[in-house]
Amino acid sequence: MLPILRSVAALRVQVAQWRKDGLRVAFVPTMGALHDGHLSLVKSGLAEADRVVVSIFVNPTQFGPNEDFAAYPRTEQADVAKLAGAGASAAYVPSVEEMYPAGAATTVHVAGVSDGLCGTFRPGHFDGVATVVAKLLNQVQPDVALFGEKDFQQLQVIRRMARDLDLPVAIRGVPTLREADGLAMSSRNAYLSAQERATAPVLHRTLSEVAARLQAGAEAAPVLKDGIAAILAAGFGSVDYLELRSVEDLTPLERLDRPARLIVAARLGKARLIDNIAVNPA
Ligand code: PAJ
Repeated sequence: MLPILRSVAALRVQVAQWRKDGLRVAFVPTMGALHDGHLSLVKSGLAEADRVVVSIFVNPTQFGPNEDFAAYPRTEQADVAKLAGAGASAAYVPSVEEMYPAGAATTVHVAGVSDGLCGTFRPGHFDGVATVVAKLLNQVQPDVALFGEKDFQQLQVIRRMARDLDLPVAIRGVPTLREADGLAMSSRNAYLSAQERATAPVLHRTLSEVAARLQAGAEAAPVLKDGIAAILAAGFGSVDYLELRSVEDLTPLERLDRPARLIVAARLGKARLIDNIAVNPA
């Protein structure tokens, strides 16, 4: 039976026991509605540690006032069963009150990497992410924490935060798990109608096509413009951004002159989908 820990105190007792036994601990933070992408993080954690804690917490502070906090899928029973099947060691499932007791007044802001891209379209989002991840890392105190490259800006925000605050944890990025047609697995794919689901793989296909042109030496601006047009022509309602950024610090690039990431966010029906791929100079 997978233990379900609902308080910081219960979590600390469990982790202290493992520490006493000399075990290495990995941590995978999630918001639940788990899919195989999340489970691949658990698998990576098991490759590096003896025990893997997975948190399930739909974090209110990272949702904007007009976003999908209330509608976000909550499927605890199914999630716990999947975690048990994947070999996780414990689920940490705190309430909002446990995570943010009355009077909580501290926010973590990571300047620079939090700006632009999703930071522009979701004001305050990365402050909410950085704050809750800092808290979770302090609560679990793992040796290693795993995050998906699917949320590439989030991964870079957390890497920066861990360095800047001297958090004693190794941050690992894990490649994006995709459906057979290329669509990145995401809890938000559940919002798509059958027709939208058929359109959605255009996002990844466009990233691949744009990457090929950039690798052939094209200037970024016109190629990105064509990419946005292709996504809209396929039936997406809007494209928040499609950008070429340096891997290191996410600064915008005018052409592919160093290791980069091609990053996109676009709206399809009720869903806001994000994706990104690595693109490197030939
Ligand atoms: P959530 O969207 O549930 O994602 C949890 C973790 O799973 C993140 O690190 C995310 O990048 C990773 N992930 C999601 N889809 C993936 C895929 N297709 N392949 C590989 N990894 C994938 O991201 C969050 O939750 C929250 O912001 C959180 C970090 C938990 C803070 O609240």
